Amino acid sequence: MVTPTPADKFSFGLWTVGWRGRDPFGDATRPELDAVDAVHRLAELGAYGLTFHDDDLFPFGASTAERQRQIERLRKALSDTGLVVPMVTTNLFTHPVFKDGGFTSNDRDVRRFALRKVLRNVELAVDIGARTYVLWGGREGAEYDSAKDVRAALDRYRESLNLLTAFVHDRGYDLRFAIEPKPNEPRGDILLPTVGHALAFIATLEHPELVGVNPEVGHEQMAGLNFAHAIAQALWQGKLFHIDLNGQRGVKYDQDLVFGHGDLMNAFSLVDLLENGGPDGAPAYDGPRHFDFKPSRTEDTAGVWDSAAANMRTYLLLKERALAFRTDPEVQQAISESRVTDLRTPTLAPGETHADLLADPALAEFDADKAAQRGYGFVRLNQLALEHLLGAR
Ligand code: GCO
Ligand code: MN
Ligand code: MN
Repeated sequence: MVTPTPADKFSFGLWTVGWRGRDPFGDATRPELDAVDAVHRLAELGAYGLTFHDDDLFPFGASTAERQRQIERLRKALSDTGLVVPMVTTNLFTHPVFKDGGFTSNDRDVRRFALRKVLRNVELAVDIGARTYVLWGGREGAEYDSAKDVRAALDRYRESLNLLTAFVHDRGYDLRFAIEPKPNEPRGDILLPTVGHALAFIATLEHPELVGVNPEVGHEQMAGLNFAHAIAQALWQGKLFHIDLNGQRGVKYDQDLVFGHGDLMNAFSLVDLLENGGPDGAPAYDGPRHFDFKPSRTEDTAGVWDSAAANMRTYLLLKERALAFRTDPEVQQAISESRVTDLRTPTLAPGETHADLLADPALAEFDADKAAQRGYGFVRLNQLALEHLLGAR
C-alpha cells in the first residue's frame, strides 16, 4: 500500500526535482536536470504527472523553433512513460523585467507583456492536456506601502483574470485557473497573501466559476495559519482546484521541505480531510496530489530522488494511518462523545424563525452553568489521533 502507483495521482513540478540548490547565499550544488530524465525517473518512482512553468521547459525568450523542439522532446517522454501533464503555470518572476510584478507591475508595458506570456502558455497547456492553470503571483506585491496602490493593483489583477477567463471561454478550452496564495517572499508583502484573501477576490471576477485556489502547505504556515482549515474552507466553497503539498517548520522563510517533514500532525489532518473528509468517508478531493518541494541543498542527485519518493511514501503512510484512525471503534466513540458530528445538525428547527427562537420556553429555562460544566474530551480524541499517527494503535 505504500508503493505509489499512477492511481494515487502524485505529480511533481519540473522545478522541484530540477532545483539545483541555488539560494540567495550560495551557488548551485547539483547539475542541471533534463526534463526527459525527470519524466523517466518520476515514472519509475510511481508518479502520474509532471507540471512545469514555460521557462522550465524552454529558456525565456526562446525562438519558436527551440520552444517546439523542447515541447516535442517532452511529448515523446510522456508517451514513452504514460506520465501526464495535469497542470501548467507561468514564470512571471525570474526575469528582471518582472521585478515589480507581472499583472500588477506599475509599468503598463510590463503588464501587457506578462499577459501575453500567460496567454501563449495557456495555449500550450491546453495542447498538452492540462486541465488546471496555476497563477502564483510571487512578484505581485511591494516592500514599501507608498510604492503600490493596492486597490489599483487589485483592479489590474482582476482585469488580468477577467482577460484569461474570457480567453478560455471564447476559445472553448476545458481549463480552469487556480490562484496560489503566499504571504511574502520574494516580495516583502505579496498581494492575495492567504487562501482567504484569494477566495474573497475570486468572488469579484466576471467568471468566478473558472477560478479556484492552489493552496500550498508552507505558504499558509508561513503566516501562522492552519493549512487543514484553509483546505476545508476551500472545499466548502467548491474552490479546491489544485494543491501544493510540502513541509514547513513554523513562521519563517519558505522552506519547501518534503511533505510531512514540517508540521506532521497537520499533515495527518490534511490527508485525513482529503482522503476521508467527503460524505460517508469518501475522498473530498480527486485532483492531483502535487508536490511543490525543494530537495534540500545538501542532497546530491540520489538524494533528489530519495526526497521525491519520500513525499509520496509519507502521503501514503498518512493515508493508511488516517484510515486506521477513522475505522477505530474507540475513535468513533470519542468523536461522538466530543459531539463532533452533532455540529452537522442545523441550529434552527425546520421552518423556525427568529421570533420562534426568542419565544422558545426551553431556552428561557436553559441552565448555562450546568451546560458549561461538561467537558468536550477533545484532548483524548487528539491523543487517539496522535497514537494512530505514531502507529501505536
Ligand atoms: C514557491 C511557489 C512556487 C509556485 C510555482 C507555481 O514556493 O515559490 O510555491 O513554487 O508554486 O511557481 O507557479
Ligand atoms: Mn513554497
Ligand atoms: Mn507552490
